[in-house]
Amino acid sequence: MTTIIRGGTVVNADRAFRADVLCDGDKIVAVGERLDAPVHATVIDASGQYVMPGGIDTHTHMQLPFMGTVTADDFFTGTAAGLAGGTTTIMDFVIPNPQQSLLEAYHMWRGWAAKSAGDYTFHVAVTWWSEKVHEEMGVLVRDHGVNSFKHFMAYKNAIMADDETLVKSFTRALELGAIPTVHAENGELVFQLQQDLLRKGITGPSAHPLSRPPEVEAEAANRAIAIANVLGTPVYIVHVSCAESLDAIARARAKGQRVYGEALAGHLVIDDSVYQSADLDFARAHVMSPPFRSKHHQGALWQGLRGGNLHTTATDHCTFCAEQKAAGQDDFTKIPNGCGGVEDRMSVVWDAGVNSGMLTPSEFVRVTSTNAAQIFNMYPRKGVVAVGADADLVVWDPEGTRTISASTQFARGGFNVFEGRTVKGIPSHTLHAGNMVFAKGELRAVEGAGRHVDRPAFTKTHA
Ligand code: URP
Ligand code: ZN
Ligand code: ZN
Ligand code: ZN
Repeated sequence: MTTIIRGGTVVNADRAFRADVLCDGDKIVAVGERLDAPVHATVIDASGQYVMPGGIDTHTHMQLPFMGTVTADDFFTGTAAGLAGGTTTIMDFVIPNPQQSLLEAYHMWRGWAAKSAGDYTFHVAVTWWSEKVHEEMGVLVRDHGVNSFKHFMAYKNAIMADDETLVKSFTRALELGAIPTVHAENGELVFQLQQDLLRKGITGPSAHPLSRPPEVEAEAANRAIAIANVLGTPVYIVHVSCAESLDAIARARAKGQRVYGEALAGHLVIDDSVYQSADLDFARAHVMSPPFRSKHHQGALWQGLRGGNLHTTATDHCTFCAEQKAAGQDDFTKIPNGCGGVEDRMSVVWDAGVNSGMLTPSEFVRVTSTNAAQIFNMYPRKGVVAVGADADLVVWDPEGTRTISASTQFARGGFNVFEGRTVKGIPSHTLHAGNMVFAKGELRAVEGAGRHVDRPAFTKTHA
């Protein structure tokens, strides 16, 4: 398969320049002006368009067993939806149950992911601690291409990691050259606030954000950062949703600590008024953790992205249909937490970020692809348009528009948190491993075509 993308503007994180891009097999083999191409090459006319590295969504949950049910998108439908939106690699999560072997869970997830249409790689959650976990973290890093471990500081009585687990796992990650990541919310506070609300008879979805105020997130972010500081490890904070958490990151970075932050497309543009809707299906469909916040927090997140204290954009794609969400109709704590977005992240961030002047196109590439590739050690295989990189590319039409709707999306779940939003800036073509998988609205995703991306440990100098 040989493809030449002609006449576009290549956008990398460091610069934008006019060039053709020649792909052969699954790699980029030439980038330059007026390239020669074999006669049999497929030609994509990119005039007036940008050619960017395929998006990397650092945070998805396909086929996740969670809160008594399983997410609606599996690894095929979820990665295919990503390809339609210009995302060619997802970073998903292996989440072992407490007491479960990390390796057993890892192999289970690898089996589920074999049907992926786009590339995938895994953070592995550490939900409990023992000598066996210590051992298995080593096997995962050495033999299975895992270099990031996730810690849920929330979800008490389920997958929450206590401080002992955090300290021991961060220490082990440092020893192995892996990066610890955290879902930062104080799970004990959330639990007590939930019980308090239920006791008062406040049982609907409007109670969800009341049980998870910004301070609950900030406490955990500060704690994780402090632990990382004492132990000398880097730390990556997933789905930063509020100004207070961002402040914690900014303070630590200003003192020279290696702290990274992730923003979700949803948190950047959706506010907490969704929980006040009289349509309870609608309100429940927005229940995710941390919750959507006020416009004040949205503004802070955009500044964090532009100013370099937030590094990646993700979705936390975790879709549940209305029937699944209705499990919590009498008790908001039983609503499966999660929302979608893998198909829409690139367009939402471009439309709200680049069209508004908040981000330049190069900054867009940095926060949708390059930083993720660098932080999680996939660079320069991913995250850059350059010779030798994977031919994961998105040809981006800055004038194209799309009105996002659950009725036209490829993702499952029957709901879209961005419903009705018209975005300007859409992929005209997506190439994954050199194959045209999306062209002018037509999805050509192939089940099983996705590859696992091994991510080697960092050298000791990184941490
Ligand atoms: O509500 C969410 N975010 N669900 C998925 C699990 C998690 O916390 O990331
Ligand atoms: Zn194995
Ligand atoms: Zn989370
Ligand atoms: Zn998540």
